[in-house]
Amino acid sequence: MTSAPKHFIDLDVIDKVILREILDLGVDLKKSDPSNRDNLPLVGKTLAMMFEKPSTRTRVSFEVGMRQLGGEVVVLPQSETQFGHGETMADTARVLSRFVDVIMLRTDDPQKLADLAEYATVPVINGLTDQSHPCQLMADVMTFEQHRGPIAGRTVAYTGDGNNVVNSFVHAASQFDFSLRLACPDSLRPDPAILRWAVEAGADVTVTDDPMEAVDQADCVVTDTWVSMHNKEDDRVHTLTPYRVTVDVMRHAKKGARFMHGLPAHRGDEVVDEVMDGPWSVVWDEAENRLHAQKGILQWCLS
Ligand code: CP
Ligand code: NVA
Repeated sequence: MTSAPKHFIDLDVIDKVILREILDLGVDLKKSDPSNRDNLPLVGKTLAMMFEKPSTRTRVSFEVGMRQLGGEVVVLPQSETQFGHGETMADTARVLSRFVDVIMLRTDDPQKLADLAEYATVPVINGLTDQSHPCQLMADVMTFEQHRGPIAGRTVAYTGDGNNVVNSFVHAASQFDFSLRLACPDSLRPDPAILRWAVEAGADVTVTDDPMEAVDQADCVVTDTWVSMHNKEDDRVHTLTPYRVTVDVMRHAKKGARFMHGLPAHRGDEVVDEVMDGPWSVVWDEAENRLHAQKGILQWCLS
């Protein structure tokens, strides 16, 4: 009998003990020397990466990570394949499952990811949808712990647009037991459904429209782009201007607080250069940790 594939779709649907195991695995893999090619765990395995949207970090970190673990990679941009041109996700899932051992999808609609996972007989990984970005959060938790120690019981503040990254932050706050203070304008608050989920899950998540209130005593301040790939620019930039992470904002956080941003950053919009390049910033470690966290995810999916 074949067992169900181990999908990595969202942080709320994976047991918190398993999420911690995946993260620990990523931290262990980070210590290994990638030039040592002995006993690699994913020799003979192939990852297919499907992109309906652009990517730098997700594409490179998954590709390099898979190769470091001994595996192979096939990259499928939407413009060069059939999946964006009439073939259903279900049929794409059935076909790719005959060729590869694991599939990563970056898409707009979470339903497409759900369809892929339902019909694939191999694990499926969420490489970002309009609703969530769980791989980013695994790297973010890893980065917090690298710099500030265990995240459980600590406080993370996010100021800006209540977007897909925020949704995964809410899931992470519950699963990794940290407090999350969100500062978002009324018109750009997170989806009410995710906030209801947080209440039902007993997560310590609060929302305010005051960035200084959110960052007060925070161990880490986070932001993300004001105009996500699925947004139109409209008047967001004007609405979000009071939510910019400035030196003043960082000085309101706890002494020793770090600044994180999953990138790409729009310097001068959501964050100023003095913070991106300043003593608080751990954004380059955070980008690097995408590699290590995703190696943990790949190895778990294929174990
Ligand atoms: N943070 C992130 O996912 O970056 P990319 O869009 O470059 O993959
Ligand atoms: N919120 C951003 C994240 C990019 C990695 C977007 O969806 O465009």
